[in-house]
Amino acid sequence: MNILGISAGFHDAAATVIDRHGDILFAGHSERYSKRKNDKNFCTPLIEELENYNPIDTVAYYERPVMKQLRQWYSGQGIEWNRLSVKKNIHDQIGHANWQDVKYYKNYNHHLSHAAAGFQTSTFDRATVVVIDAIGEWDTISIWGAEYDKHGKAHYTKLWRQSYPHSIGLFYSGATGRVGLRPLDEEYILMGMAAYGDRRHAAVMQDRLIAHEYDIRFRENLHIGLDADFMPGTSDMDIAAGAQELAEQLILNVMTRAKKFGWSDNLVYMGGVALNCAANSRIGNYFENIWIMPCPGDSGSSLGAAGLVWGRRINWNNAFLGHLIPGPYPVNGALDALLTDRIVGVASGRAEFGPRALGNRSLLADPRGKEIKDQVNEIKRRQKFRPFAPVILEELADQYFDMPRGWDHSRYMQTIARCRLPDLFPAIIHHDGTSRVQTVPQDGSGIRELLEKWYVVTGCPMLLNTSLNIRGEPMVNNRADADRFEQLYGVQVVS
Ligand SMILES: [Fe+2]
Repeated sequence: MNILGISAGFHDAAATVIDRHGDILFAGHSERYSKRKNDKNFCTPLIEELENYNPIDTVAYYERPVMKQLRQWYSGQGIEWNRLSVKKNIHDQIGHANWQDVKYYKNYNHHLSHAAAGFQTSTFDRATVVVIDAIGEWDTISIWGAEYDKHGKAHYTKLWRQSYPHSIGLFYSGATGRVGLRPLDEEYILMGMAAYGDRRHAAVMQDRLIAHEYDIRFRENLHIGLDADFMPGTSDMDIAAGAQELAEQLILNVMTRAKKFGWSDNLVYMGGVALNCAANSRIGNYFENIWIMPCPGDSGSSLGAAGLVWGRRINWNNAFLGHLIPGPYPVNGALDALLTDRIVGVASGRAEFGPRALGNRSLLADPRGKEIKDQVNEIKRRQKFRPFAPVILEELADQYFDMPRGWDHSRYMQTIARCRLPDLFPAIIHHDGTSRVQTVPQDGSGIRELLEKWYVVTGCPMLLNTSLNIRGEPMVNNRADADRFEQLYGVQVVS
C-alpha cells in the first residue's frame, strides 16, 4: 500500500507517492498537466497519472486547515468554512478519482512538512533544519533539530519559531510586487534584477521596516505588500538590490541563531526562500554540509507530508520523478543538433520535480560566444537582463567557476558562483559576474553522457541550460507538448 502526499489549494499544487520501502514512485506538479502556471488545484490528467500508483491507503495533506483558517481569519481574510476539514480539502482535490483503497486521511503542520521533505531526503543522520517561507499556518521561520532514533524513525524537535506577520518571504514578495512583478511567482526575477542595483538601499529599507533584526520582527504587516510609494524615486533595480541584501542579512541572522543551538553541523534548509540561490551562496559560512531538497517550496511539501506518514528516511536519487517520456536519453540526437544548430530541446525520461529544468525538459545550447544569448532569447523572450544558466561536468566546475564555501557542487542549481572565464561565456554570466551553476556528477544520467560527449568533441565541458517551455506556459511535460514547441519555434526537440 502506497502513501500519497498532496500540497494544494494555495499555489502550485503537487503530488508525491512513496511506497513502504521509502522509494519515491512519483512526484509532480499539477501545472505541468493543466498547462496553467502555478495551478493551485489538481487537474484530471494528474489524477489519472496518480492512478498508476494504486493501491494508495493513506493520503496526507501538507498543512493543518483549521490552523490556517484561523490565521486567515486573524489577518482579515475571512474563513472558508467548507475548507476546515482535512478530508474535505483532500476530496476537493482528488475526490472524483477512484480511491477505494484510501482508509486514512492525515495532515501535518506546514513547516513540519517542509522540514520532513528536507531531512528525510538528505543523507544526514542528524541535522539542524531551517525553514523560511512566506507563511504556512502561523509560522514564517522555524528551526528544528532532526534525528533518527535507533529504529530509524525520524524525530523533530522545534527549537525556535517566528510567526505571522513577521516574515522574510512576505517581505520579499512585497518587494516583488513593489517593482511591478507578480508576488509568489516572480521573486526569481527580482533576484535577477538585484545585480543591477545598489545594495546600500538595504539600510533605508531596514530603518523603515525592521523592528528587530536578529529576531526578524517587522514594524508593519507586509502581507498586503509594500505601498506603491514605498521609497519613492528609488529605481526598481535599487529596490531589488536593497530587498535582496536585506533578505540575505535576515537569512544569515536566522542561520546564526540556528548554528548557536549546536544541534548539528549539517544544515537542511527548506521553504520557498531557500530557492534564492544568491542568498544560498552565503550560507556555507555557517554549516559544514548543506542539503536543500530541489523542490523546497510548498509543492515539495507533498513529499514532506508523505514522508511524515512513512516516518523514516526516504531514498533520494535525483529530481527526475515526474511524468515519463519513455526511451533512452537522446544523446547522439542532441549532440548532432548542437553541433549543427547550436541549440536543441530535450524531452526525455521523467520530468523534474521542482522549478528547475535539469536536463530532462531542457533547452540546451552551445554557451560559447556572444550571439547565443540572443538566439535563445528569440525563443524565451525573457527580460534581456536575465542570463541563462550553465550545466557543467562536476569535476571541472572548479576550473570554470569559483564555487562558494560549502558548495563543492550544485546539482540542483541552488547557488551562484563567479565565472572565472566571463569573456568566453557571456551568455551564462550575470551582470555581477556570477552564474547559477548546475554541476552533474558521474551519476549515469543522460545529461551527464551528453556533456561528456560534447566535451570530447568541442573541448567545452558545459552547455547553456534553460527550461523547455512554450512562452507563458509551465515546462513541457509530455511528447505532445514537445511537438507543439517544435512547431511554434522551429527548434528540434529530441526524445
Ligand atoms: Fe511554505
